[in-house]
Amino acid sequence: MKLVMAYSGGLDTSVMIPWLKDKYGADAEIIAYTGDLGQGEDLAAVKKKALNTGASRAVVGDLREEFVRDFIFPSIQASALYEGMYPLHTALGRPLIVKKMAEIAIAEGADAFVHGCSAKGNDQVRFEVGFRSLAPHIGIIAPLRDWEFRTREAEIAYAMAHDIPIPVTLDKPYSIDQNIWGCAIECGEMEDLWAEPPADAWQMTKDPSHAPKGSVEIKLTFEKGVPVAIDDRVMGGVALLEHLNTLAGTFGVGRIDMVENRVVGLKSREVYEAPAASILLMAHTELERITLDRATFNYKRKVSQDFANLVYDGHWFSPLREALQSFINQTQAVVSGEVRVRISAGLARITGRRSQFSLYDTALATYSEGDVFDHSTAKGFLELYGLSNKTVASVRRANGLPTAKTC
Ligand code: ARG
Repeated sequence: MKLVMAYSGGLDTSVMIPWLKDKYGADAEIIAYTGDLGQGEDLAAVKKKALNTGASRAVVGDLREEFVRDFIFPSIQASALYEGMYPLHTALGRPLIVKKMAEIAIAEGADAFVHGCSAKGNDQVRFEVGFRSLAPHIGIIAPLRDWEFRTREAEIAYAMAHDIPIPVTLDKPYSIDQNIWGCAIECGEMEDLWAEPPADAWQMTKDPSHAPKGSVEIKLTFEKGVPVAIDDRVMGGVALLEHLNTLAGTFGVGRIDMVENRVVGLKSREVYEAPAASILLMAHTELERITLDRATFNYKRKVSQDFANLVYDGHWFSPLREALQSFINQTQAVVSGEVRVRISAGLARITGRRSQFSLYDTALATYSEGDVFDHSTAKGFLELYGLSNKTVASVRRANGLPTAKTC
């Protein structure tokens, strides 16, 4: 039995290796795969832990560049925010891990993929739909759906009994999923919707009340919808995101506390941190506001929502995602320019925007000297624009009906 397993070194996957060996026999070959998506963890230690707990091989892939280039940048271009708030860092990371695991599983002739997702989460959907999309002939094992542990406390007890080092304790029982695009923190007292997230839950951002005094302003440069420079310093994607995460994190920017609708039908309280993501998404949309025409801008908002839902729902590898991506790419041809953002405690605000493709025309917009807008055209335009309303009202009036409902 050869298994390729998604391994994070967290509580679930740590307990899983010995558990799989118990269940499928000591000679089961387990290849543990860990992707470096910029979670900032000691992955050499994670690899060692996988081997110490019984994996026959442990592979750590540095996926940061690919993650930023092929998943994060397209999602910035797409303006992807699930339910208007969540920048989708976890949902974007899964398909890349799936891709790498599928490559290994196919090359190794593996019997099954293993993932450590729970039966009520979204990640099982992303892994399994992804595995089926890329390697439909390989089986899937999801121990968390089968095993005897009903609570995290029971798992912790099993880990302690089997000498498995664990990253959580009963006093800090958070489930954390972090990468370069953000961080999700779940469990513990945050399951009470009324409770404020505890101070020790936050990973990437400082408490805004401890932020430096005053503010800093940065200038972001975008080319075709992709951020390429900060303050005229051209940077690779990974470096740019790291820089912005640190800066915005210091000011406590990008904390999100939301209740979201999961794929499986339940609502969950999610606490996210997205320092770089929140600034980049805001700045990118700002550039679209001046470079996209009204119809395209508004149409793209609908596409963004559909794109975000597809990513959230685990359909990265799908014909519709490819098609939406083509539409999005087409719109981004003019989304080049610069945006200034002022960052202060807990807040990022746009202070300026400009682009060679800007459709904003001061001569048309001004209420001061230099106005070139032909005011006389508005009269005829409104005769026609309001004609249908006028007709409806007239007919209603002729029939003794109110012209329109006014309350
Ligand atoms: N709710 C988010 C999502 O579905 C985050 C999931 C985070 N996963 C975790 N194991 N903490 O994408």
